[in-house]
Amino acid sequence: MKWLLTIFAVLIALSGAAWLWANRAGEIEAISPPDAAAFDPAKIAQGETLATLGGCESCHGNDLSGGIALETPFGAIHSTNLTPDADTGIGTWSEMAFARAMRQGISRDGHLLYPAFPYDSFTNVSDDDLSALYAFMMSRPAVAKAPVANGLSFPFNLRPAMAGWNLLFLNKGPYVPDPNKSDSWNRGAYIAEGLGHCASCHTPRNGFGARDTGQPYAGALIEGWFAPALNATSPAPIPWASDALMNYLYDGWDADHGISAGPMQDVVKHVGALSEDDMTALAEYVLSLQSGRDPAEGNAARAFATQAAATADAPEFSEGQALFEKSCQNCHRDGTDMVPLALSSAVNLPSPANLIHVVTEGITPSENAYFVKPMPGFPLLTQSERENLARYVRHRFSQKPQWTDVDLSEAAASASEGQ
Ligand code: HEC
Ligand code: HEC
Ligand code: HEC
Repeated sequence: MKWLLTIFAVLIALSGAAWLWANRAGEIEAISPPDAAAFDPAKIAQGETLATLGGCESCHGNDLSGGIALETPFGAIHSTNLTPDADTGIGTWSEMAFARAMRQGISRDGHLLYPAFPYDSFTNVSDDDLSALYAFMMSRPAVAKAPVANGLSFPFNLRPAMAGWNLLFLNKGPYVPDPNKSDSWNRGAYIAEGLGHCASCHTPRNGFGARDTGQPYAGALIEGWFAPALNATSPAPIPWASDALMNYLYDGWDADHGISAGPMQDVVKHVGALSEDDMTALAEYVLSLQSGRDPAEGNAARAFATQAAATADAPEFSEGQALFEKSCQNCHRDGTDMVPLALSSAVNLPSPANLIHVVTEGITPSENAYFVKPMPGFPLLTQSERENLARYVRHRFSQKPQWTDVDLSEAAASASEGQ
């Protein structure tokens, strides 16, 4: 907590200067709520697709009326009402006010927003797409629901401190195409860096809660899960290929990589809205982040997976082995149509968090992966059983070093708590 307070003091100091600058913008005048029928239906439809891609409803709720708590290291932040209700939503917001919130994290009345709202990604969205999103939001049914007070303690509850944050970390958009790259690469980058906000989970954050630009897509713990590195340090035993990425992002499952679970399942629902051209472009961009991996690694990974399937005995991990044979072996054995465990990123990550999550909660495949069977959860395992099982699975199915006892007990303890 001490270092958080120290850096927050720095933010507040910086904000002194930035405060006046930021408040130049001030309030944008209220308008009377626009008539939903005045928006072009094609534009509303475009906005709906974009809202799906941006995952607005996973944070603001299915009816977009907000009030959902997002846990951050600084306390809980609640999403706001995005319906066109004049008193509690954004009914009195002009398109200009909406665009300023998305690009600069400033609410219509001039107060600064917290980056739990990923405006540091949404800033990249084009004028045309922002305009379509606005049309979509303003044509939803208005819901009267007052915003919920945030659970942030002093000094994190000082919104003006965000002026310093913006000064340091907000790289205001819209996205500028790289002339040295293909059109489809640029399209993929626009999707990933903008509404897709992939980096907001896959890039580690610094002490200010901002993305660490020195380690783009290096993988990070988020909501108790580990979002794997998507750069050249990708833990996937078989290097990702374009068709594999497209399978994973459309279906949430690929034969060389396995299933998407946890917070990534929602993302799969969102990117499912992309056209095939856009998905191809997104895959091209993600692959370019991890260029440099040798495709021959794939052959070695397959050979190791075959060998790992055949070598069960590990006397030093006998407790974990007994649990595996009792609870897992029946499904996860050679000769079934399941992805070998040795090819799963969950087993090869720097953190045991995802493995312990799936063992505890099981996996309900996303709708698109209707052909994949569910995996049952094992919520009754004790904390030490979880740790022993994870140790054995790591030992048998990964060539990476064993997880540390600290990481294991943290992940196992939080899984026990969550039950
Ligand atoms: C990861 C969660 C998350 C996602 C995804 C998200 N938002 Fe939000 N949004 C928030 C939170 C939290 C706030 C409140 C921030 C605050 O009060 O400082 C917010 C606030 C806003 C605001 C400011 C409203 C106000 O009254 O000041 C707008 C506008 C907004 N979001 C639009 C969107 C749109 C459009 C999308 C989809 C493209 C979206 N958000 C997706 C979390 C999210
Ligand atoms: C809300 C957080 C979040 C967002 C946003 C997010 N991801 Fe993920 N992603 C995860 C998590 C967590 C996993 C691990 C899932 C698992 O182990 O089953 C993951 C897994 C993946 C994987 C599999 C990696 C591997 O080696 O196994 C890919 C590929 C991926 N994400 C791509 C993307 C792309 C592209 C975007 C943007 C369109 C994105 N993600 C946005 C959290 C997120
Ligand atoms: C009833 C069958 C069944 C049982 C029992 C079972 N699993 Fe699974 N498991 C699945 C299915 C189905 C999948 C997803 C499909 C795939 O990976 O091909 C899966 C996926 C996984 C994954 C990959 C997760 C990811 O995010 O990539 C891991 C790791 C895993 N199981 C570990 C275990 C462990 C450890 C046990 C024992 C505690 C276990 N499973 C028991 C059916 C099962």
